[in-house]
Amino acid sequence: MCGIFGCIARNAKAAPIIHAALKRLEYRGYDSVGIATIHKGKIYIKKDSGKIDDVHKLLNLDDMPGSLGIGHTRWATHGAPYQANAHPHTDCKGEIAVVHNGIIENFSELRNELEDLGHKFKSKTDTEVIPHLIEENMKKSLGLVESVREALKAVRGSYAIAVISSREPDKIVCARMESPLILGIGENAVYCASDVPAFLPLTNKAVVLENEEIAIIRPDGYEIRRITDWSLVERKLETIEWTAEMAEKQGYPHFMLKEIHEQPQCLRNTLRLQDKYLDLMATFLDRAQEIFLVAAGTSYHACLAASYMFSKIAYLAAHPVIASEFIEQEGMAVNINSTILAVSQSGETADTLEAVEYARLRAATILGLTNVVGSTLTRISRVYVVQQSGPEIGVAATKTFTSQLSVLAQLALRVAKIRGKVGHRQMEEIEKKMMEIPDIVERTIKENEEKAKKVAKKLKDKKIFFFLGRGISSATAMEARLKLMEITYIPAIAYPAGESKHGPISLIEPGLPVVFICPRDETRKTIVGNIMEMKARGAMIISVIEKGDEEIKKLSDEYFEIPGSLPEILSPIAFIIPLQLLAYYIAVEKGLDPDKPRNLAKSVTVK
Ligand code: F6R
Repeated sequence: MCGIFGCIARNAKAAPIIHAALKRLEYRGYDSVGIATIHKGKIYIKKDSGKIDDVHKLLNLDDMPGSLGIGHTRWATHGAPYQANAHPHTDCKGEIAVVHNGIIENFSELRNELEDLGHKFKSKTDTEVIPHLIEENMKKSLGLVESVREALKAVRGSYAIAVISSREPDKIVCARMESPLILGIGENAVYCASDVPAFLPLTNKAVVLENEEIAIIRPDGYEIRRITDWSLVERKLETIEWTAEMAEKQGYPHFMLKEIHEQPQCLRNTLRLQDKYLDLMATFLDRAQEIFLVAAGTSYHACLAASYMFSKIAYLAAHPVIASEFIEQEGMAVNINSTILAVSQSGETADTLEAVEYARLRAATILGLTNVVGSTLTRISRVYVVQQSGPEIGVAATKTFTSQLSVLAQLALRVAKIRGKVGHRQMEEIEKKMMEIPDIVERTIKENEEKAKKVAKKLKDKKIFFFLGRGISSATAMEARLKLMEITYIPAIAYPAGESKHGPISLIEPGLPVVFICPRDETRKTIVGNIMEMKARGAMIISVIEKGDEEIKKLSDEYFEIPGSLPEILSPIAFIIPLQLLAYYIAVEKGLDPDKPRNLAKSVTVK
């Protein structure tokens, strides 16, 4: 998730306006920053890696001529956060500059084609294909707008872009596909931005672009057209009533809720990861003699779920280990034949890094899954995959968890393919469902949010919760427990449901809420027995079920329904959603701030 901004003003210098707007977008990424302006037929660019303030101190971002320009604050996806990879990116002649938020899936093919045509690339980014494609189209005597349109027809993936050219210095051309883009209409200037806070101090008049739309903005107006059929789009100006703080959260009261709602898009991003890294990692995993999945907190729960995924479809044993226990538990067993797949959203968790460093010194192979390019984990991993969730600001991990699950499921599928263990039809079915997951999660949020609010009111004063699931759902239960505990401060217990009768059941008394995670998988029959056990002792049953599971519905005091059936290995991605919402709304009911739970930090860099 990066932030882009464009400004075309009547009588003002664009650079200081862009600089200030990028500061307001910094929450979207802070690996590098860059601005391009046009003055007297020439493009000026300043860009570097680092936070905006640091780069500004070095380069003085305000001191650039011209009343039109574009800017970018980067959350690295393709290519490490170096100066060359910072946006804006340009064509061969430096006549076109582009900023981009999103992922171009087919950039490798496009880059090869463009290199064959003689184009010279300066960065490792997916974005750089765009200015070169535009350049290629302009060579064919197309104007800037038409060239951008043709370029966008060639790319696959997600984008919000803003483009300027010294050959047509009277306009900014911007476009959107999946990544957000909003026009801000001022008295003497027009802006385009990834998000409203960027221009809110300048104007509260906005127009939201939809997918596959291009906007041409000029100091005195704008025009929106559909990329596909070039039809003109008439859209009313909206007046934004948000305060700056509300705008940063896109109108959501907390980052956690915003991030819960971002999950469909984050999951779509995970389906666009580059095959070569996933395949490489799958090859390492397939060849490994023993595998440890090492992580902390929520990331550990993703590993726990992954151990079921690898076993179920790839017939591969991968042992999940809590990072802070790894050296004690497995240390002496680690050697040159060990493979460690470390999972860490931040890539900076001290416990995880210590475990990884220990294993590295014992010659183990280190693989990493993280959300942060350039993090320590990426630097010490032999191969790493970046999950592309964008920055997560709420302390409680939500969108990064489901994205981790999606990437780990894709890895399991690839290993299964290499090993040829799973039949063609089953594989196709799982792959099909994998593509449907973002939509299923979107519907799950929509269909369960009101219910979560209602159930939260009912449960907010409960003193203790149980979370139970069988098989892969025991990982979902652990994660649901962590979400509830960390933001509501209500003690909670999570167990594999089969284990509950070996002790924890003695805690059950009438009215105690027990949350059951019940996908329709092989564990479905047995979990009904576990529900009965708890119900017989007066527990209040809250279940997460697949839509239409009437039997469990009848046994439940409250239930959340997941629309659509899912293969077992994918079920945690959807089944955790109502429980994230429930934890969130209980915290809100209790008057707590879910974004900043006491005693916790987003990235735990101490042991
Ligand atoms: C819980 C949470 C933490 C982190 C843990 C590991 O909501 O966010 O439990 O999952 O601190 O962090 P990363 O994944 O950055 O290593």
